[in-house]
Amino acid sequence: MIALYPGSFDPITKGHLDIIDRTSKIFEMLIVVVLHNPSKRPLFSLKEREDMIKEVTKEYDNIIVESYEGLLIEFAKLRKAKVIVKGLRAVADFENEFQMALMNKEMSNDIETMFLMTENRFSFISSSLVKEVARFDGNVKGFIPETIHDRFVSRVKEMKQ
Ligand code: PNS
Repeated sequence: MIALYPGSFDPITKGHLDIIDRTSKIFEMLIVVVLHNPSKRPLFSLKEREDMIKEVTKEYDNIIVESYEGLLIEFAKLRKAKVIVKGLRAVADFENEFQMALMNKEMSNDIETMFLMTENRFSFISSSLVKEVARFDGNVKGFIPETIHDRFVSRVKEMKQ
């Protein structure tokens, strides 16, 4: 069965990677898809985010990474995926995720959203907070994959100028 793991991944964090790793062990095929979240202003283009995720998931043979400019549910139909996987960190995530899951269900009743609880040690990590810490020159090495660290920090610096 094919599952989708959608998100804005700006940038991909160790929390995202944990969900990717666990989901890849449950489903035959996992498609990680980078999408626009209209309520966020991204640091990286869709393509750049897709490339970074490809880099950090290259060891997995059942993971495909793509980006898509449109509705998640349309992408799910295109790829014949029946399951959307989301990570839940805390109560704060729930309301928005619940609303999106119901909207997606309304648009396509045969595609289900499933939630994986985040691991405790990653539960405080979000791309937004990582960007904030980096903007003020904090150390973000513990929160994002090592292979994308330098690229991320340089982009944050460029955007500050
Ligand atoms: O990582 P995020 O920002 O929480 O992910 C949210 C995302 C990108 C999955 C959501 O904004 C999305 O699905 N965007 C694509 C457009 C879409 O389908 N919108 C309707 C959602 S019900």
